[in-house]
Amino acid sequence: MKTVSILCVAVVAVALSACSGGKAPEAAKVAAPALESYATTRQVMLGLTIPASNLLFQLGDNKPKDDAGWEVVVATALTLAESGNLMLTGTRDLHQPEWTDFSRRLIEAAKKTAVAAQSKDVDQVLDAGNEIYEVCEACHQKYMPARAAEAPAPKT
Ligand code: HEC
Repeated sequence: MKTVSILCVAVVAVALSACSGGKAPEAAKVAAPALESYATTRQVMLGLTIPASNLLFQLGDNKPKDDAGWEVVVATALTLAESGNLMLTGTRDLHQPEWTDFSRRLIEAAKKTAVAAQSKDVDQVLDAGNEIYEVCEACHQKYMPARAAEAPAPKT
């Protein structure tokens, strides 16, 4: 019964939107806010990427004791995935194919870790954690030397 009534609501909603020319009612729309960047890539690393990944990398020494503990692991993995999204937004996005690729790989590996954490499997979380680590390394190999080269030469 419940399913049927939900379906009815959906049908009515579709019918209504058809009547208004397919447009959603005005009140349901909120203009997307213009987002500003507050943190540099380094700050996202320090504030989010590093602490979140450390929790996942060190799970073997700090196994969750209960459901609430696992919920934190899942949330941490998904937040790490969001840090990949942050790499692709605002002033942090370098708009280069490899940058995009590394960021997406971080997102995918972190999502995989979240799935492993959902099944409460420490070994799988650590395996997925290795994939995360490979992405960290790969991105740094490409983009950290570039930063070093751009830095002014140290005064002697
Ligand atoms: C998409 C590229 C990219 C990915 C993926 C990435 N990083 Fe970074 N990371 C950078 C860049 C670029 C810097 C240098 C930022 C700067 O100093 O301006 C950096 C800096 C760092 C630093 C040095 C911070 C300092 O003290 O200056 C650490 C540590 C670090 N990242 C850890 C990680 C870890 C751990 C991961 C994976 C979970 C990761 N990063 C994933 C791009 C990336």
